[in-house]
Amino acid sequence: MHIDTVEYVRRAIRSVPDWPKPGVVFRDITPVLQDPRTFRVLIDMFVYRYMRQRLDLVAGIDARGFILGAVLAYELNLGFVPVRKKGKLPFKTLAEEYSLEYGNATVEMHTDAVKPGQRVLLIDDLIATGGTMMAAAKLLQRLGANVVEAAAIIDLPELNGSAILKETGMPVFTVCSFT
Ligand code: PRP
Ligand code: ADE
Repeated sequence: MHIDTVEYVRRAIRSVPDWPKPGVVFRDITPVLQDPRTFRVLIDMFVYRYMRQRLDLVAGIDARGFILGAVLAYELNLGFVPVRKKGKLPFKTLAEEYSLEYGNATVEMHTDAVKPGQRVLLIDDLIATGGTMMAAAKLLQRLGANVVEAAAIIDLPELNGSAILKETGMPVFTVCSFT
């Protein structure tokens, strides 16, 4: 039986009920990363999508966006910048607060992480409410960057985040979705 690459990756994602709190089904990408074939197929999908986009940088969101973003940046011969949770970056920072499916948080970037006009791909593992992506995109835009696309492996369309991001004019790409 032939299964396509999207389904191959999707089937490797583990669903963990009631984590980190009752009622949340956590979509766990660690099995995708652990298997060298699913990891490579996944990264290659992003490489093919972005190899001709004249990007300047990849920005990855703390924490799983670091894993994807750093590998992708390296493959595309681009620099990588981290969007970190509050209090982790040592130099001058910009901050954006946001709300999550399960709580509140703040993301930060170094003020010199991007230059005005740079074309930046923003990447994370998952879009739920879209709050994290939106806050990260705002940080990049406040620094004058052009956020070319917000990319993730997983979309949770029932939480509306990808739709809300698209309504703001942000291009969004996700490999697969879970409902
Ligand atoms: C998860 C996920 C995204 C975010 C998506 O991270 O990795 O970053 O939630 O949710 P949203 O679309 O509702 O904003 P989490 O905040 O759990 O942090 P972690 O990476 O430290 O586990
Ligand atoms: N971040 C927000 N909601 C999530 C979920 N259901 N699974 C994994 N990460 C998440």
